[in-house]
Amino acid sequence: MRAAFTVLLCLVSMSIAQNYEYKPDPNWRAPDSAVSRPNPLASRPEATPGGKKLFLRNCVECHGQEGTGVVKKHAADLQLPAVQQQTDGILFWKITNGNPDRGMPSFSKLPDLQRWQIVLFLRTLPFQSSGSK
Ligand code: HEC
Repeated sequence: MRAAFTVLLCLVSMSIAQNYEYKPDPNWRAPDSAVSRPNPLASRPEATPGGKKLFLRNCVECHGQEGTGVVKKHAADLQLPAVQQQTDGILFWKITNGNPDRGMPSFSKLPDLQRWQIVLFLRTLPFQSSGSK
């Protein structure tokens, strides 16, 4: 009984814990042309709630409601400075192409503007000043 409870507790904490340990893959690099692409919705904050909806529909199973990354999926904690310090263009490119070898699917099937909308939403996640080591 106690063992079962411990296992359950481990599973629960594994699935809700933030993926603080996450480090971006140095080999997953956006080309220069993608890095500086501006978000066409940058001056349209009213598009953010739609970005949140898209995020909840497509991303939470791995990144969690708050974007902190489900540890057992090895998914990125999207609040980490290592992620937030990247340009809109890089995040857009990464969402578009994915990194299938490491578990991030490509979302090129979503229209461009929806992907930019998601980037807009990602910028509203709480920014962690600590967490990465
Ligand atoms: C099936 C699980 C899964 C789904 C669904 C998923 N991701 Fe990911 N995501 C990952 C994993 C795993 C990584 C880390 C990849 C790596 O290690 O390089 C990642 C990485 C990322 C990164 C890059 C972080 C970095 O290293 O710079 C971004 C941005 C991202 N995801 C956004 C999204 C968004 C937005 C969605 C929804 C449209 C989404 N992901 C859906 C698993 C997922």
